[in-house]
Amino acid sequence: MEIVGTIEEVRKFVSRAAEAENVIGLVPTMGGLHGGHLSLIDAAHEACGYVVVSIFVNPTQFGPNEDMDRYPRTQEADLDACRAHGVDLVFTPTVEVMYGRGFRTVVNIAELAGALCGRSRPTHFAGVCTVVAKLFNIVGPCKAFFGQKDFQQAVIIRRMVADLNFPVDIVTCPTVRERDGLAASTRNQYLSPEPRGQAAALNAGLRLAAERIRQSHPTAAEVINAIRGHLATAAPGGKVEYVQIVDPLTLRDVEVTEGEVLVALAVKFVGARLIDNILVDSRTAGP
Ligand code: PAJ
Repeated sequence: MEIVGTIEEVRKFVSRAAEAENVIGLVPTMGGLHGGHLSLIDAAHEACGYVVVSIFVNPTQFGPNEDMDRYPRTQEADLDACRAHGVDLVFTPTVEVMYGRGFRTVVNIAELAGALCGRSRPTHFAGVCTVVAKLFNIVGPCKAFFGQKDFQQAVIIRRMVADLNFPVDIVTCPTVRERDGLAASTRNQYLSPEPRGQAAALNAGLRLAAERIRQSHPTAAEVINAIRGHLATAAPGGKVEYVQIVDPLTLRDVEVTEGEVLVALAVKFVGARLIDNILVDSRTAGP
């Protein structure tokens, strides 16, 4: 496994791999690797002959009062995990490599970036799109892998790829969960035992919602109230930032739960803001 920090080295190794007719796969991450990240790496391995993982805590996607400084940086463990999962190249650039002097360009996706998490994190998705656009141009992958856990991020990246004609196929992989249903996340480690116990209520609330939608096609407002009720009882330490039911393509609120809808939520606990979502098709029985 090669570990490189410069754009020139990435291009050198990737062009060699491409010349050898490998499909190039990219898994962008901010490190603190867990089962969710590893599932993306495994999916990349299945589909691609050469797998690149980027590890970069991207400053432009953090707001001024967010956790940029304390974001877990676990490079040695991350590299071990990458080795164990057969990664070919790890790109770990510094901030200076990614954002040189005079950097000014921002990629913003109108409207989609202001929905859901964008309401409380107004500059977040511009930061994500800018860094992902750069990673696509640096690595030049055929396929790039993203998690459904960050559904809005995946929708926005797909929009960017279509709008700006990036020649890359975006693959979205299912959310990996802990035993109690909590979505695996680097930020889960910020939680002390009590909020960690309550955090399982996010997924439980979403599953409850999915069941109701499939059974009785309630209005969105009814489902949202049911989820809020569940969270109030099962996660009293969490402050609900939003619970929304939206069209999975436009991320706009829906009033009725017919066809395919995305139920998404964000809850703030002491130490960590957690998000989760579930895609529900009222016409199918579900898992
Ligand atoms: P990060 O939070 O490190 O996540 C990297 C990738 O792992 C994202 O595509 C995310 O959706 C996926 N992921 C995280 N938890 C997951 C889980 N429980 N199951 C499945 N996939 C999961 O997302 C980012 O970094 C950044 O915004 C990035 C795209 C790297 C740009 O900086």
